[in-house]
Amino acid sequence: MIVTIDGVAASGKSSVSSGVAQALGVPYVSSGLLYRAATLLGLEASLDLHAAPHLLTLLGTHPVRLEPLAGGNRVWQGERELTDDLHSTRVDRGVSVVAALPEVREWVDAQLRALPEPFVAEGRDMGTNVFPHASHKFYLTASARIRAERRARERPEDVPAIEAALQRRDELDTVQSAPAPDALVIDTGPLDLQGVIDTILTRLR
Ligand code: C5P
Repeated sequence: MIVTIDGVAASGKSSVSSGVAQALGVPYVSSGLLYRAATLLGLEASLDLHAAPHLLTLLGTHPVRLEPLAGGNRVWQGERELTDDLHSTRVDRGVSVVAALPEVREWVDAQLRALPEPFVAEGRDMGTNVFPHASHKFYLTASARIRAERRARERPEDVPAIEAALQRRDELDTVQSAPAPDALVIDTGPLDLQGVIDTILTRLR
């Protein structure tokens, strides 16, 4: 069994997926962390983020591993844990460029498809592209202002700056971020975290 939870940036996908996964007693899988890891490593190596070949060589020679757990995902490169470095503003800024590279998308998709079921998968294209056969699909939305207000609790910038950055990332992510035709679209604006989790669990039951 695979449940997919896709949605726009900062729509609460990770927290919701973690809550749903814990209620179901299965891991959740954060695909965005793999795109973020590729971006971080590219930035650290001063690579041109628009060019796939060097990035792919880097990922091939220093493999990155996603550890999916119900409570939170961790990302490793050998013995080095990358997790805490993946949500910086500079990774936020570069990640959509890296995620637009077809070779990087193939690298992420191959890792995700190799994971043992069952799990909850969250990202942009889990229900459309990576797991089109998933048994249940959800897509989370909310206005840019509401998402920026939520994210301002985790980032040093103010709400208008975060809102502008989110809208820019939404635009860059448009190609890979659309609800699957069979997904339930949930506007998380009027709901709190538990409300979104309960909406999904009710549908699953
Ligand atoms: O989910 P999160 O905001 O951490 O994702 C970071 C970025 O990774 C997104 O802005 C998007 O560019 C990319 N991404 C993607 N496809 C996914 C998950 C994330 O393109 N399935």
